[in-house]
Amino acid sequence: MSSEIRAALVGACGRMGTMIVRRLMSTEGITVSAAFDLVRVGDDIGEVAGIGKIGVPVSASEDLEKVLKETKTDVLIDFTIAKATAVNAPIAAAAGVNLVIGTTGLSAEQKTAITDAVIKNKVSAVISSNYSIGVGIFFKLCREAAKNLGPDYDVEIIEAHHNQKKDAPSGTAMTAAEIISKELGGKEFVYGRQGQCPRGKEIGIHAVRGGDIVGDHTVMFIGNSERIELRHQAHSREVFVSGAVLAAKWVPGQKKGVVYDMNDVLA
Ligand SMILES: NC(=O)c1ccc[n+]([C@@H]2O[C@H](COP(=O)([O-])OP(=O)(O)OC[C@H]3O[C@@H](n4cnc5c(N)ncnc54)[C@H](O)[C@@H]3O)[C@@H](O)[C@H]2O)c1
Repeated sequence: MSSEIRAALVGACGRMGTMIVRRLMSTEGITVSAAFDLVRVGDDIGEVAGIGKIGVPVSASEDLEKVLKETKTDVLIDFTIAKATAVNAPIAAAAGVNLVIGTTGLSAEQKTAITDAVIKNKVSAVISSNYSIGVGIFFKLCREAAKNLGPDYDVEIIEAHHNQKKDAPSGTAMTAAEIISKELGGKEFVYGRQGQCPRGKEIGIHAVRGGDIVGDHTVMFIGNSERIELRHQAHSREVFVSGAVLAAKWVPGQKKGVVYDMNDVLA
């Protein structure tokens, strides 16, 4: 019996999905078992991803449960939109399939519902707003700076992404804000500013959208007479692809009923 991990994708025809398909097909120990999307249903996902036929047709999401079971899928990788993930992740968990979720913009309620499904169905999941390896270090530096500088420094977060990104602010900016807020004992978040808006003790969060920017995040700790800026810049989506594939190979072997993040995968 082969020990190869069988990975399916939702959002398989998207920017991230097609890149992950290409990477999975050139990575040992893991293969593409199924593909789901709203578009290109019936087409071979290898052809959609530009690597020629691989014998895996794109299925409609309505057939998720049936196809996941038929294809004996171990892990479902989801890079879609929040409202799709909120529906599909619990269905996959109920079918006994582990999860790697990259979709951003999930609400707290949606994340809780997915966590409940993971616990109830005894599967494992990795949920991360950013699968790059460097961002894990960036988050640690944010925590360290907040801890050392304390509440007297104003915190502003500026993120920049391509003009096709659907949600704002980015999941990564929100994760950075939550880490810093927790370190400072709880902060209000203010999204952009317009009109009369004197600065309080908030964390300001700002989103830039344009062209083909893959993903920039800058966190500013601003005091009187000085400031520290921490910056992460993704040069290519390949960095997210590497992390997602690493997580997909890792998650089936983990303790069941637990939601992990990228730090756990890299530990
Ligand atoms: N966590 C990370 O490291 C990371 C990195 C990059 C992008 N993202 C996130 O991944 C998601 C996808 O990004 P993208 O750039 O590939 O977007 P994209 O628009 O290129 O692709 C999304 C795909 O999902 C499909 N889709 C939408 N609703 C669906 C549904 N109900 N069922 C099946 N398929 C559905 C679309 O048809 C599309 O093909 C976004 O939320 C983005 O913010 C996360």
